[in-house]
Amino acid sequence: MRTVTVERMQNSLTTHLLGAIVAVARGRASHCASPEVKTQCDRPCGRQKLSAQETYKFDGQKSRDISRDIMAVEPVVAQPVMAELPSETAPGTEPGNPLQIRNMEAEDIEFVSRMLVDAFSDKFEHAVGKNRMEGAVQQTVASLGRSQDVWHRYRVAVYEGRPAGAMAIKFHGDSAMGDFSCGEACSFLGCGTCGLICMGAALENDNIPVGQCYLDHIGVDASFRGKGIGKVMLDRADYEARQHGCTAIFLWVKKGNRAVHLYERQGYVITHTFGGWFKRCATGSRDWHNMEKQL
Ligand SMILES: CC(C)(COP(=O)(O)OP(=O)(O)OC[C@H]1O[C@@H](n2cnc3c(N)ncnc32)[C@H](O)[C@@H]1OP(=O)(O)O)[C@@H](O)C(=O)NCCC(=O)NCCS
Repeated sequence: MRTVTVERMQNSLTTHLLGAIVAVARGRASHCASPEVKTQCDRPCGRQKLSAQETYKFDGQKSRDISRDIMAVEPVVAQPVMAELPSETAPGTEPGNPLQIRNMEAEDIEFVSRMLVDAFSDKFEHAVGKNRMEGAVQQTVASLGRSQDVWHRYRVAVYEGRPAGAMAIKFHGDSAMGDFSCGEACSFLGCGTCGLICMGAALENDNIPVGQCYLDHIGVDASFRGKGIGKVMLDRADYEARQHGCTAIFLWVKKGNRAVHLYERQGYVITHTFGGWFKRCATGSRDWHNMEKQL
């Protein structure tokens, strides 16, 4: 069995969260303009199979064939692969621990969508409007629900048997975080769709350097915060990044977010602050920190 660490997974747009959207703005138009792929682009974005049956092995768990999801668009730039996995236990898998962290499954979509929209409610409210927050949740459920090719990037924290938090991690070559359909988004958000697209364009990061891991988003349900769940999830992200041979992990956080303290305690440092008028218009916050931790 072959372990593939990086593939160029093309798909359009933001997130559900922040992801799916950008590709609509950036990539999809040019991709779909190509005559070879045009006929495949009736759906949110066309897909092209790799000829080889690649498998993706993650965290020692059962591999799954994702060849159908992989876009053969650009040559694969491989990151170093760890031939031998470190013997340390993955944080959030210790037997008897009330906190367990596992891969996201279909049954988690509703929780993850609702929790993330709530955790990032300031941005969502700014982007789509306060009265469209339920629409933002439903749009996220729909987008994430059909984006099975990115589920493997998500982890769900379960505390005493109840879903409590989620995070998404990306590696070099990973692109947007899910399928996005403007028509579908409009049905949930109306004119708020424009704000969501701008938010995704402002915050989507699909330029992750080789050997680095990007913590795309992390959130804990408000009723579970302050119990150390966020810390263990960050430990788990470090662990998974090391498993992929990464030497650094980084994230973006809004200047002034209380979470900066948590990241600093975990060993992250602010490398630079970026932003400007577009970030301000699209997210409500002008200044964003890039925080990085050497592994
Ligand atoms: C940030 C977050 C994931 C931490 O999860 P957690 O389980 O509460 O974290 P822990 O219990 O391990 O650590 C507590 C630390 O989390 C941070 N935190 C707690 N509540 C927070 C909140 N509402 N918003 C942001 N950060 C928060 C603080 O740094 C806190 O430490 P402090 O009390 O010394 O200030 C969680 O609070 C959250 O989802 N916040 C809202 C979404 C968010 O801001 N995500 C990060 C964006 S990059």
